Amino acid sequence: MFLGSLLSLSLGLFSGGETYRRQLSVELNPGSPSPLPPGDLLHVRAVGDNDTLHFLFCSLGAPTLLLVHTNTSSSTVTVDWPQFEARNTSGGLKVEPESSILYSTAIVFSRLLEYNDMNDTADTTSDLFPPYKLQDFRWSRLNLSGPSALLCGVAATFSNGSLCLQLSVFGSEGRGQSWPRLLHTANSSQIGVWLDGVLPRATRSRFMLELQAVGGAYPLSKVDVVRSIDDEYTPSIFKVSQWVSVENGSSDVLSFVQWKPVAYRRSDPALEDATPCRHSNPQRQSGQETAVLSALVRAFYTEPETFGLNVSFGIAGEPFYNSTKFLSWTVLVGSGSPPADSFSPLVLSMMAVGLGTPMILLLLGGVCVCVRKRAEPSAMAYEPIN
Ligand SMILES: *[C@@H]1O[C@H](CO)[C@@H](O)[C@H](O)[C@H]1NC(C)=O
Ligand SMILES: *[C@@H]1O[C@H](CO)[C@@H](O)[C@H](O)[C@H]1NC(C)=O
Ligand SMILES: *[C@@H]1O[C@H](CO)[C@@H](O)[C@H](O)[C@H]1NC(C)=O
Ligand SMILES: *[C@@H]1O[C@H](CO)[C@@H](O)[C@H](O)[C@H]1NC(C)=O
Ligand SMILES: *[C@@H]1O[C@H](CO)[C@@H](O)[C@H](O)[C@H]1NC(C)=O
Ligand SMILES: *[C@@H]1O[C@H](CO)[C@@H](O)[C@H](O)[C@H]1NC(C)=O
Ligand SMILES: *[C@@H]1O[C@H](CO)[C@@H](O)[C@H](O)[C@H]1NC(C)=O
Ligand SMILES: *[C@@H]1O[C@H](CO)[C@@H](O)[C@H](O)[C@H]1NC(C)=O
Ligand SMILES: *[C@@H]1O[C@H](CO)[C@@H](O)[C@H](O)[C@H]1NC(C)=O
Ligand SMILES: *[C@@H]1O[C@H](CO)[C@@H](O)[C@H](O)[C@H]1NC(C)=O
Repeated sequence: MFLGSLLSLSLGLFSGGETYRRQLSVELNPGSPSPLPPGDLLHVRAVGDNDTLHFLFCSLGAPTLLLVHTNTSSSTVTVDWPQFEARNTSGGLKVEPESSILYSTAIVFSRLLEYNDMNDTADTTSDLFPPYKLQDFRWSRLNLSGPSALLCGVAATFSNGSLCLQLSVFGSEGRGQSWPRLLHTANSSQIGVWLDGVLPRATRSRFMLELQAVGGAYPLSKVDVVRSIDDEYTPSIFKVSQWVSVENGSSDVLSFVQWKPVAYRRSDPALEDATPCRHSNPQRQSGQETAVLSALVRAFYTEPETFGLNVSFGIAGEPFYNSTKFLSWTVLVGSGSPPADSFSPLVLSMMAVGLGTPMILLLLGGVCVCVRKRAEPSAMAYEPIN
């Protein structure tokens, strides 16, 4: 019976069920403003059977990803560029028809914080340097390749280094190429963030990233930390953090930000380059202040409800940023429930071998005994009778 359930489990996982697909189309600066704005606005439409996810990524102000879910496959995005760029009123960006909007969520990458961890305690409240405000960075133009976009920015004191964000939107289920190899679906996008070659302000500096999540009625207000199954995709990491927006009185998750609590100290990491991350509890923030940071939040929301949290990279005893001058971290932002890892094919086959082999041996053993038992009487027939 156990073998049977194992078999059906593995069959279910290998066939993968039906994966939900979306048609993606990419547009940079929709409506082609002229002259070009000082930052870019990327629009990825992800059209499903009867719905559309609009992913909007903007570098005007602090980098922001806005996700709007509509209940029709024909909703559109319109931008009033003079109003959008003026950044003093809402309404510069509309998703129409307005009645089709199921919900929306924006993630603002607001600040990079650096602290001097003199005593190697990773106490994030001690010895903070003045924060880097991402809305003040000098950002590159978006570098597009298919439904993915690279954005790099520098602050004055960064020396030769930069902070980069790479957005990827997906048409179907799959997994990231590099660690932490997060599982994504057609309902999610991924943002990789890395800090490369930045001159730290102390030899024992560590960094934190402040994120703000903006929503309408149901903002992302709590982080659940769930156990993840040990598998080969993110070695040594057994947890997943999920920052979710929940309709009150319901267990349905409307949208999420998901990450594994790990960052990497090299771009091509080995296991020893993994460093743990921690996050603070989401705190309610002033929505109007968030709108000042981000042109996209200003343009889309009239009354933004905001929660913010800090993700800190490295814990006591871990090497400091100075050791490699590199840090990368990856999050998934999507609609509906966050994807959950199942057992990987490798683990499944190991389980099958580990549990199946003794079963087969037992069965074979049983068969042999039977065969020998049945063979015995005829052998005995030839034995001399004393
Ligand atoms: C989409 O809408 C059509 C007609 O409105 C309906 O027949 C179909 O079942 C819907 N598909 C899904 C996946 O909801
Ligand atoms: C917004 O800014 C524009 C240009 O700076 C200005 O013309 C307009 O009057 C401002 N609107 C409001 C409501 O402040
Ligand atoms: C879904 O779309 C219909 C129009 O097709 C609209 O009348 C309705 O309000 C929408 N539902 C929601 C929850 O937005
Ligand atoms: C580091 O340790 C010294 C001595 O214990 C203490 O005086 C100092 O306040 C500590 N610094 C920080 C930033 O915790
Ligand atoms: C754009 O990105 C590609 C790889 O993603 C890189 O090879 C290329 O140099 C980048 N172009 C610019 C102008 O940064
Ligand atoms: C910045 O880059 C230049 C040329 O690549 C190099 O000579 C210089 O040492 C670098 N500066 C720092 C602080 O790394
Ligand atoms: C993605 O969203 C669609 C439409 O809301 C839903 O039918 C589908 O089950 C979702 N797929 C996953 C993998 O969450
Ligand atoms: C949900 O929240 C609204 C306002 O925040 C409140 O009026 C309503 O009673 C709540 N519903 C439930 C089921 O808690
Ligand atoms: C992030 O950390 C800084 C420094 O401790 C703090 O001032 C800020 O309020 C934190 N942000 C959030 C959203 O908790
Ligand atoms: C850390 O930085 C200091 C100078 O700022 C340098 O002397 C030291 O070698 C660096 N340590 C490592 C491990 O790179």
